[in-house]
Amino acid sequence: MNILLNYERNGDSHTLKSYLKRDGYKSLSQLKKYQPAEVLEEVKRSGIRGRGGAGFPAGLKWSFLPKHTEKPIYLICNGDEGEPGTFKDRVILEENPHMLIEGIIFSSYAINAAHAYIYIRGEYGFAVRRVQAAVKEAYDAGYLGKPVKGTKYTCDITVHQGAGAYVVGDETGLMNSIEGKKGQTRNKPPFPAIEGLYGCPTIINNVETLASVPYIIENGGANYAKLGTEKSTGTKLLSISGHVRKPGVYEVVMGYPFMKFLNEYCGGVLGGRKLKAVIPGGSSTPVLRPEDCENMTLDYESISAAGSSLGSGAIMIIAEGTCMVKTLKVLTHFYHHESCGQCTPCREGTGWLNKIVGRIEAGQGTMDDLDLLTSITKHIAMHTICPLGDAACGPVDSFVKKFRDEFVAHIELKKCPYNSTFTRLQERV
Ligand SMILES: Cc1cc2nc3c(=O)[nH]c(=O)nc-3n(C[C@H](O)[C@H](O)[C@H](O)COP(=O)(O)O)c2cc1C
Repeated sequence: MNILLNYERNGDSHTLKSYLKRDGYKSLSQLKKYQPAEVLEEVKRSGIRGRGGAGFPAGLKWSFLPKHTEKPIYLICNGDEGEPGTFKDRVILEENPHMLIEGIIFSSYAINAAHAYIYIRGEYGFAVRRVQAAVKEAYDAGYLGKPVKGTKYTCDITVHQGAGAYVVGDETGLMNSIEGKKGQTRNKPPFPAIEGLYGCPTIINNVETLASVPYIIENGGANYAKLGTEKSTGTKLLSISGHVRKPGVYEVVMGYPFMKFLNEYCGGVLGGRKLKAVIPGGSSTPVLRPEDCENMTLDYESISAAGSSLGSGAIMIIAEGTCMVKTLKVLTHFYHHESCGQCTPCREGTGWLNKIVGRIEAGQGTMDDLDLLTSITKHIAMHTICPLGDAACGPVDSFVKKFRDEFVAHIELKKCPYNSTFTRLQERV
């Protein structure tokens, strides 16, 4: 079932004309029937959980805003999408931007925000141009910048392009970036709902979360909640990459069996190889072995029971024949490179992790290094301002735990038992 990918990929789905043909902005004409609190209630009823990674219920987050404030309230749409393996928001930004704009208008109305920002990662130049063009079309057509028909409510949107730092995907880093400050995160509390952008109450939601709102309003929160499982309602966009025959972005109803998804939607493991490992929710989520995934379904509860997290819905498939130590070396390099340097445990610790995994991979590690790795992660996780430190530790702990024999083999053989970085499998469909 497609809610977010409900269009033909024929090259013009991003235009206003195409969106109107799909009954886009139709429910906006009904906005006059709703009080802001009613829109919020509908979103609460849908049970939709934030799609940016943490899975926090969207309606509940909105209800944390102060009931009475003299300050303006802001909505920020988080399109930073920097988590390795994640490329699902890009599809909405590039191919269905008007659904996002409509979702932002509804959401801003619900929280009494007159101004919303769409923050898009620096590297997504094409997406930025597509969204800017769509915002202009929405202004020209009177959906933005003028009172919504039958109401006194006006919404304005500013598109902001980032400068290429993973850490500003964190909501507080994102606000600093919009304010023109260094891309570093803030301590919480105060939480953004109380003191966010420019010191004002702010709600930050992921692109996919906000783009789902028009469907929720049009069909009712209760109907949305009927899709999926009890605690994971609705559909989920999944970006699947790695050793898979048909990588790409797919939409599934939550609760869909993982193995069926891999084999039926995605054509199975590349080259007909055996599945060796799965990173189910973006690079920061713990790696799983095939036996963990056998009965796993694609929803928050099941992936958590399997020992990992749905995260941003970025599934990475690793085939038999891949060196897990080298794979971890790549991941630890990423987190070290992206650490903003503000907190000592993360700034120093991510570098140590990368160095130690590097020396194990080069055949120069010792058995003590394995304990050292887990001891370092204990000193990073939960000891930093933002969760980038925790994100760096998840892969290390899980790789060492789940593929310990491979780390030991590198240490005992004093070299990598594999010939290449990753098995380069060429076959794609
Ligand atoms: C280092 C780091 C990077 C993040 N990157 C993103 C991102 O690219 N997109 C996103 O929506 N959330 C990202 N998040 C989570 C955001 O802080 C925030 O929880 C999210 O945007 C809230 O939206 P949601 O409730 O709709 O999921 C990141 C968090 C951290 C710590």
